Amino acid sequence: MYKKEISKAVINRLPRYYRYLGDLLEKDVVRISSKELSEKMKVTASQIRQDLNNFGGFGQQGYGYNVEYLHSEIGKILGLEKKYNIIIIGAGNLGQALANYVDFERRGFVVRALFDINPELVGTKIRNAEVRPTEELESYIKSNQVDIAAITVPKTKAVQLAMDLVSWGIKGIWNFAPTDLNLPKEVTVENVHLAESLMKLSYRLSSKQKQEKSKITKEGPGEAIKKEDKEDKESKS
Ligand code: NAI
Repeated sequence: MYKKEISKAVINRLPRYYRYLGDLLEKDVVRISSKELSEKMKVTASQIRQDLNNFGGFGQQGYGYNVEYLHSEIGKILGLEKKYNIIIIGAGNLGQALANYVDFERRGFVVRALFDINPELVGTKIRNAEVRPTEELESYIKSNQVDIAAITVPKTKAVQLAMDLVSWGIKGIWNFAPTDLNLPKEVTVENVHLAESLMKLSYRLSSKQKQEKSKITKEGPGEAIKKEDKEDKESKS
């Protein structure tokens, strides 16, 4: 559809544009200038224009953006104009949490079934989706339209499971297991690793703390000692 290869950074920003525009739509906002959108999203106006120019613009000089149109166009770019059938393999803590989250469905991602090896879970229902035995996984995939398979099994089982899923025809994998899946390139894999996000947070926290410390040191040892004493007293009180 678009001749130019779109950079990953732009693709990564699109869901955020989509979310902001969705919020504006809910508030019945009809149009927005790139300046207003940039202030809301804390992205420069030129960044927004550049990003959207990748897809042919959508803005009009002196008018800004029509919120509904832009929301729907970005939705199309993200492939959100269709419904996606999802199955979840591994109906433990995470698998159940995903199946319980109603908002995915609102965006067109419908959890149709879960699969697990644990007989105690088999036959239970999470919202509208039933937990089925893994023995039925292959026949389910072959006889139903499954667009995305979410992997929420232990890491040690994930690689083999992913290969089986692909051999049965799965083309989209939402991988939560903390392991890399090396799959053929016609298979699209999206990895979600909350632990990596936490590590980024811890990096940012600790670098801020280091900056604070070096600021204190520059102010001189006397000031630093006074500040430490004060913090010590406060933490004890
Ligand atoms: P859990 O132990 O609660 O659930 C795992 C489920 O998988 C169990 O019900 C088990 O019976 C089932 N299972 C095991 N082997 C299976 C197989 N071959 N086929 C089908 N089902 C199978 O574990 P939890 O906490 O739900 O974590 C699941 C996975 O998600 C783990 O790999 C964990 O490391 C990962 N995880 C990833 C996060 C992320 O941010 N990406 C966050 C939390 C967990």
